[in-house]
Amino acid sequence: MIKIIYSETAHDAGIRGAEVISEVLASKKNAVLGLATGSSPVGMYTELIRRYNAGEISFAEVKSVNLDEYVGLSADHDQSYAYFMHHNLFDHVDIKEENTNLPNGLAADPVAECARYDAVVASMGGVDIQVLGIGNNGHIGFNEPDTHFTKGTGLVNLTDSTIDANARFFEKREDVPTQALSMGVGQIMEADKILLLAMGRGKAEILERALFGDVTPSVPASILQFFKGEVIVSADKEALSVILEKHPEAVTR
Ligand code: F6R
Repeated sequence: MIKIIYSETAHDAGIRGAEVISEVLASKKNAVLGLATGSSPVGMYTELIRRYNAGEISFAEVKSVNLDEYVGLSADHDQSYAYFMHHNLFDHVDIKEENTNLPNGLAADPVAECARYDAVVASMGGVDIQVLGIGNNGHIGFNEPDTHFTKGTGLVNLTDSTIDANARFFEKREDVPTQALSMGVGQIMEADKILLLAMGRGKAEILERALFGDVTPSVPASILQFFKGEVIVSADKEALSVILEKHPEAVTR
């Protein structure tokens, strides 16, 4: 079941997202969180930090697995996803460092690193909630449009569209890594619950295609239509603009 929650602003959509995570933590203090990076979840992480500081939630027993990491960036590179997670969440809450997990972008043998990460994810005994953003091309994690859906963690060649989209975070486009390690679509689909965050007009067309179009590996996020549990989509009005036009009845205000 897909529940699409409307927010007037990206800020509000982030707060809605934090509410969903907080509910999971309230029912299971040792929850396993599947986490994402990028612009979409930043506001949600800010709100989670606020709730932590207000004594409303704790991450003391939480474990986390992140979706992906760039190949070639060390954890202290300011554009690595490890750095992002520390800066945007981990350093500000009581999560234990040893309970946080990301693929190692500097691993000498990326294939072995994918196998190691698959084992890490499996050892969690199930992800309670997986946070996702959606790429302009419909990717989830770094699972780019393809002829098949990926299963486990893999070494991915980033498409030009993803490199273009992420160039905004780097000094120049050439600095954007061309490869990443990413959890697979099959692995993402094993979570108990999914929280998809989408903000801004740039996501409006792809979000509609993913949630209402054909289920196809050329739009990886479309597989979420087949998710066994609840997919909660927290999005702002810009990202929902096409859905509001074509499927207004599907949106919860
Ligand atoms: C990030 C990730 C990506 C992003 C997607 C959207 O860990 O896996 O799939 O969620 O590229 O990025 P933003 O939110 O920056 O538009």
